[in-house]
Amino acid sequence: MKLLAMYKPVQHLQSTASPPSFPTLFLNLVQEMAMAYVGALIFVCVQIVLSGVFGAPAKTGIILRDLAEPRFFGAAANTTYLFHDEKYTELALTQFSIFTPEDEMKWGEIEPIQNVFNFTGADEIVNLAESVGAKVRGHNFLWETHLPPWINESLSAVEIDRALKHHITTIMQRYKGRIYAYDVVNEPISDTPNATFRQTIWTDKLGQESVAKALTYAREADPVPKLYINDYDIEGINAKSNSLYEVVKSLKKDGVPLDAIGFQSHITLGQVPSTMKENMQRFVDLDLDVAITELDINLRGPANETALAQQAKDYHSVVSTCMEIERCVSVTVWGISDDHSWIPDGEVLPWDANKNPKPAFFAIADAFRGK
Ligand code: XIL
Repeated sequence: MKLLAMYKPVQHLQSTASPPSFPTLFLNLVQEMAMAYVGALIFVCVQIVLSGVFGAPAKTGIILRDLAEPRFFGAAANTTYLFHDEKYTELALTQFSIFTPEDEMKWGEIEPIQNVFNFTGADEIVNLAESVGAKVRGHNFLWETHLPPWINESLSAVEIDRALKHHITTIMQRYKGRIYAYDVVNEPISDTPNATFRQTIWTDKLGQESVAKALTYAREADPVPKLYINDYDIEGINAKSNSLYEVVKSLKKDGVPLDAIGFQSHITLGQVPSTMKENMQRFVDLDLDVAITELDINLRGPANETALAQQAKDYHSVVSTCMEIERCVSVTVWGISDDHSWIPDGEVLPWDANKNPKPAFFAIADAFRGK
């Protein structure tokens, strides 16, 4: 009835002859409705095609940051793509409740010349996080990689110690009140069994004390953020995680400020350690938080259906493990979509190169839902 009423004036304008009969009117209406449907269909198809090329990522109605609550779901964010790649940016703005600057806070980027700080990239990520009510994990201070040329063997122990303290203090004071946690110490444990500490410029100059020093300087600079030791290949119970466990036990015994352990979790397809929960729990039992800080699952082969299903299973297993541990506070994936991962050929992330959700995305959602 309503449609007919709307239709009548048009007929009236078009025709000066006698009013059309009811069957003509009805046929016209059917014809116009059919055209409208075809038009709408073409519009929707064009939208879908365009969105695959330019626009928003495919809509699933699933927001992982909401499902993760009270935990945080995070990503390493990278200013090379943020606000330059539209779909990447949309995912960043909608799916995550915690961000780690992928490179922007590393020593070489943020203090490339002694006492000359470049906060541009880090600021961008902190601002982005705040604009969507997300938190930030600062990354990182004491690491052997990404160092600027001025941190080198020519520095004396006193000089490098001073540089470390100044670096940590300057950054933490700048971001006071805005950063939830810092990876104060990154990758301190050696891959060689029984070696315990990785040999770096820091251990060369300051010995094992370098770890305690960095943590102490961080606490002094700002007592609020959670202070982490972050490492890889420590997800299951193995020689490396055993070494870390002993180091952490002794740091705690000595009263060194340490709040949490980050399990990077760069994992190869099908190789999520079966002892992951047990391992994380033993660190929690030392009165620490734990977090999955750099999760990605490397296919190391073609992205066929079987591999993607296994990848989904692996993501599910890691996220579920975190869900089972009360003090596991966050799961962060190292990147967002496969085209911008630090592992270019591994198809390691939950979104593919077109920013479409992969089976891994739905598996993460299920795990957060406890399914
Ligand atoms: C990687 C970044 O993703 C790359 O962009 C960069 O070129 C090298 O570093 N462990 C860490 C991260 O703690 O900082 C590393 O990030 C990946 C391994």
